[in-house]
Amino acid sequence: MNNLHLDQDKLNLTEIVHDLKTPITSIMGFAELLKKGTQDEETRQEFYSIIFSESQRLLSLVNDVLTISEKNLVTGTQKCNINIQINKYAKVLKPLANSKNIEIVIQSENNDIYVSIPENKMSRILTNIMENAIKYNRESGKVYIDLFERNEKVFIKIKDTGIGIAENELSKIFEKHYRSESTKNMNIEGSGLGLSIAKDITEEYGGMIEVSSKVGESTEFIISFPSANITK
Ligand SMILES: Nc1ncnc2c1ncn2[C@@H]1O[C@H](COP(=O)(O)OP(=O)(O)OP(=O)(O)O)[C@@H](O)[C@H]1O
Ligand SMILES: [Mg+2]
Repeated sequence: MNNLHLDQDKLNLTEIVHDLKTPITSIMGFAELLKKGTQDEETRQEFYSIIFSESQRLLSLVNDVLTISEKNLVTGTQKCNINIQINKYAKVLKPLANSKNIEIVIQSENNDIYVSIPENKMSRILTNIMENAIKYNRESGKVYIDLFERNEKVFIKIKDTGIGIAENELSKIFEKHYRSESTKNMNIEGSGLGLSIAKDITEEYGGMIEVSSKVGESTEFIISFPSANITK
């Protein structure tokens, strides 16, 4: 194995370890809620399901690490139902949203919007961007998620009512370890890696991410992919 491979592997490892944070945090969050024991049976069952599926996701990320060390990368095509993924991660991130009294509002043209990407990769894009939309939002803010298809492309718009990003920083936020000036002063935890991971995975599957923002008002990320519906 040459050095180039080693460097790339190290990079992938760092990114996977970064993305282990979300499932671990949500498992802890839901376990804590269950420990309080104030939910009805239906809600409890829902929380158990989330804990189970987030544990599966953890396992799949750990398997990615093992795959890297075995140099046995599995790619292959898989179709992912975006509606299901978005609703799933809105639920998973609900405790985080609730902690700031933030409402996540989802709108979708129809229930069958597909992209050719493995679910575990889509989950890493969505959780990183949705988590930011909550983290950098104001107290009692909103996160609007719109899903639609145009000209054989799938669009996922994630808009928040948060702190915003200055014009001159918009192109830098996708760089590794870059955090905006306003974020640095706000005492919000982060390593500046989430967006670079989301962008890398999106581009690996033929998509792109665009961002626009109004400082102190809102930020909107638009993720687009070639639609997988036409080959259904
Ligand atoms: N929705 C948003 N609103 C305002 N600023 C944002 C938003 N999303 C990202 N940013 C800015 O872009 C920076 C980079 O985001 P990124 O997700 O890569 O890292 P992070 O959130 O700081 O840390 P982490 O690695 O835990 O995700 C953030 O620090 C923040 O300054
Ligand atoms: Mg982030």
